[in-house]
Amino acid sequence: MSLDTVRLDRRTLLAGAATAAATLPLVARATSVPPGLNALATEKGMRIGSAFAWSPPGADAGSFANPAYAALLQRDCGLLVPENQLKWQATRPAPDRFDFTHVDAMLGWAEAHRMAMRGHTLLWHKTEYFPRWLVGYDFGATAASAAERLLTTHIETVCKRYAGRIHSYDVVNETVDEKTGELRETSLSRAFGGTVPMLDHAFHAARAAAPQAQLVYNDYMSWEPGNAAHRDGVLRLLEGFRKRGVPVDALGVQSHIEPAGDAPAGLLAARQEKPWRAFLDAVTGMGYDLLITEFDVADQHLPTDITLRDRQVADYAGAYLDVMFSYPQLRDLLFWGMCDRYSWLKGFKPRKDGSTPRVAPYDSGFRPKPLRDTVAAKLIGAATRR
Ligand code: G3I
Repeated sequence: MSLDTVRLDRRTLLAGAATAAATLPLVARATSVPPGLNALATEKGMRIGSAFAWSPPGADAGSFANPAYAALLQRDCGLLVPENQLKWQATRPAPDRFDFTHVDAMLGWAEAHRMAMRGHTLLWHKTEYFPRWLVGYDFGATAASAAERLLTTHIETVCKRYAGRIHSYDVVNETVDEKTGELRETSLSRAFGGTVPMLDHAFHAARAAAPQAQLVYNDYMSWEPGNAAHRDGVLRLLEGFRKRGVPVDALGVQSHIEPAGDAPAGLLAARQEKPWRAFLDAVTGMGYDLLITEFDVADQHLPTDITLRDRQVADYAGAYLDVMFSYPQLRDLLFWGMCDRYSWLKGFKPRKDGSTPRVAPYDSGFRPKPLRDTVAAKLIGAATRR
C-alpha cells in the first residue's frame, strides 16, 4: 500500500467521523446515549469549547496528550483554546526569538479531531504576565518606534503562522484596571506613547495580519457586585474603539463567576441581573458580538458538602446562562478547563476547608457533575442563532 493510499484512507475516515458527529444528537437520542455539549450547541448555531494544555504524553495534566482529558474534549467540545501556551511568556523567550512547538502540537491535535482553536492572547497588558525580559526592556533612543516594532512583530508572527487556521483572537486581554476602571500602563505602553494608541495599533495590526479572523477584547468584568468600575472602564474602552474606527469585533466575557455566599442562586441573580444586562445591552448596542471565553464557577464561599455545593454551582451557572444565552450575539461558550482536577482555581483560590474546588463540568475523577447537566439543559432551551 502506498503512502498516498494511507493518507486517503485517513482522510476518508476523518470525513466519516465528521458526518457521524454532525448526526450525533439525533442518533444519541434514539439510542439514549447522552449527546455531547457541542452537539447540542451545534443544533442552535452555537459552540462549546474549553481551555487545554500541552504536556508530554501520559502526563497527569489538562492536556490533549492525557487520554482521560482528551476524551472530555472530544465528547463535549468543538472549539479549544490554549490556556497558557500562546501567551508571550510561552512563545517569546527573548525579543528576537519565538517558540511555537507546543502551540503547533495543540493546533495539530485540534484539527485532527475536527475542532477549531482560538488564540489567547496577542497582548496580555498586565506587567505581572509579561515575559521577564519585557518588564525592564530598554527601548533605546527611539522608544516609540521600537515598542511599535516589538508589538507588530509579535502580532504578525503569530497571525501569519496560523493564517487560515486560527479564526478568533483575544487580541488584547485585561487592560482595564478592575478597581479604578482606568487603562493599565506598562513599560510597553509608556514606550509606545500611551495605552490608547498602543491598543488601537494592536487591533489594526491584527486585522492586517489576519483579515478574516474575529478580533476580541477579553476581560473579567463580571456580573457580581463590586465590578461596576471595571464594567464602566470596559464600556469606555469599547466606546473609544468604535469612535476611532478600531477593528474590534467582539467582547470576550471571561465569566469566572463566583457566588458571594450560599444564598439561593435565584436571589443572587435577581440582584445582579439588572446592571449586568445594562452592561451587555450597551456592548451589543455598539454592534459588538459576545463570547464566553473562560467559564468556571468559583466555589470558595459555598459549603463543604459536595451535593449541596454542586447544586449551588450548577444553579448559579444556570441563572447566569439564562441571561447570557438570551443575547443572540453570543454563540461560543468556552470552559476554562473541563475538569476540577486541573483547574487554575485550585492554586489561585483554594478553599478554606482544604477540599478540591468543584468549579468545572467534570470532577477530579472525570465524572460529569450537575454543572454539565445544567449547561446541557440551557443549550436545549436556547434560541437558535441564525
Ligand atoms: O509551567 C510552570 C512550571 O514549570 C513551574 O514549575 C510552575 C511553578 O509556579 O509554574 C508553571 O507555570 C504556571 C502556569 O500557570 C502553568 O501551570 C505559572 O506559574 C502560573 O502563573 C500560570 O497561571 C496561569 C495564569 O493564567 C497566568 O498565566 C493559569 O494556569 C491560567 O489558568 C491563567 O489564565 C488566565 C487567563 O489567561 C486570562 N484570564 C484569567 C485566567 C485565570 O487567571
